[in-house]
Amino acid sequence: MTANEIRLSFLSYFERNGHRIVASSPLVPHDDPTLLFTNAGMNQFKDVFLGKEKRDYTRATTAQKCMRVSGKHNDLDNVGPSFRHHTFFEMLGNFSFGDYFKREAIPFAWKLLTEEWKLQPDRLWATIFNGDAAVPRDDEACDIWRKFLPVERIGELGAADNFWQMGDTGPCGRCSEIYYFRGSEVGCNEEAAGGVCRGSSAAATASSKIWNNVFMEFDRQANGTLNPLPAPSIDTGMGLERVTAVIQGHLSNYDTDLFTPLLRAIGERAGTTHRGTMEPPDVSMRVVADHMRAMTFLIADGVVPSNEMRGHVLRKIMRRAMRHGQRLGVLEPFLHTLVDVIVREFGDAYPELKAGRSAIVQVVRSEEERFDAVLTDGLPKLEDVLDKAAAGNKVVSGDVAFRL
Ligand code: GLY
Repeated sequence: MTANEIRLSFLSYFERNGHRIVASSPLVPHDDPTLLFTNAGMNQFKDVFLGKEKRDYTRATTAQKCMRVSGKHNDLDNVGPSFRHHTFFEMLGNFSFGDYFKREAIPFAWKLLTEEWKLQPDRLWATIFNGDAAVPRDDEACDIWRKFLPVERIGELGAADNFWQMGDTGPCGRCSEIYYFRGSEVGCNEEAAGGVCRGSSAAATASSKIWNNVFMEFDRQANGTLNPLPAPSIDTGMGLERVTAVIQGHLSNYDTDLFTPLLRAIGERAGTTHRGTMEPPDVSMRVVADHMRAMTFLIADGVVPSNEMRGHVLRKIMRRAMRHGQRLGVLEPFLHTLVDVIVREFGDAYPELKAGRSAIVQVVRSEEERFDAVLTDGLPKLEDVLDKAAAGNKVVSGDVAFRL
């Protein structure tokens, strides 16, 4: 299956099981000061979980655009040296708002993976919450999993892995994560490629974490107290990039068709090919590919580069992509020429890309030109200041540093 087919198949499976297909919300959260960017499928339903908002459906399914570059969930530093981390990614999810709970959610997940997508059942394993002073062990999830998995393939982990919350406050609960075992011979693929393992130890070794099923029961307050939600609910999140890698039989998300057309286009500009190693050209190609997707989707959702808040994060991502482009030997502005690849690959699933195409190209191009001018103008000034400081008292004044 192509990634586009996997996305559609997830949504239609849950639609057949009574869920409303809801469009992704924008990457800029609506009216939520606790979040810089949308970081999970449940964000747009936060008030529904909290009982503050009612919808005319109690089951939903989405393919949600997410960014994890700030706050509680931040993967920026892993991008490039990792085969599985992204700043922008798509999260597939199914949600129950006081409708079904664990007894339906776990079988829904199991049947999709093993019957619809035909993943080998004996390669799947799951984890449950092992309990702490505030919330007990998840005996119920363990019992349900026992219908599908032998006990040795049900792991028990603490809050860092098996208690999910979108931020410091808000809806949260114990969760159960589903892993796909790739084979003991696989080990950590980053390490095999000459890098270091990234991510949690389990995810970094022979298994890929593919799906998180959150059993929403609490609303965490700023003082840490857990108040009960109006009704137990379900929130799940499955990274499309990871599950596509599993289904397509790749160890790296960057080898899936979510990335290969873009990496090919970057390679054509740079006169190289992505070989999936930890060598500088490949790391830089992954950074450019990841950041290119992030900037295109962010600009389509109305973010523009600036020196504040979201605009600052976008500018940081864009300039990081430009610097890696230069490391690839592409010295002239070229990122704007890659926008069309993303519009072509993702425009059917996210029509805002097609609608915003020319504005996106223009914003990327002018930021590239601006950065070019900053470097052309600023580097000689910096060198001059450093030379003078080296020859004098070895101090650059705060005023000069600020202007630089
Ligand atoms: N909301 C579930 C997750 O992001 O993993």
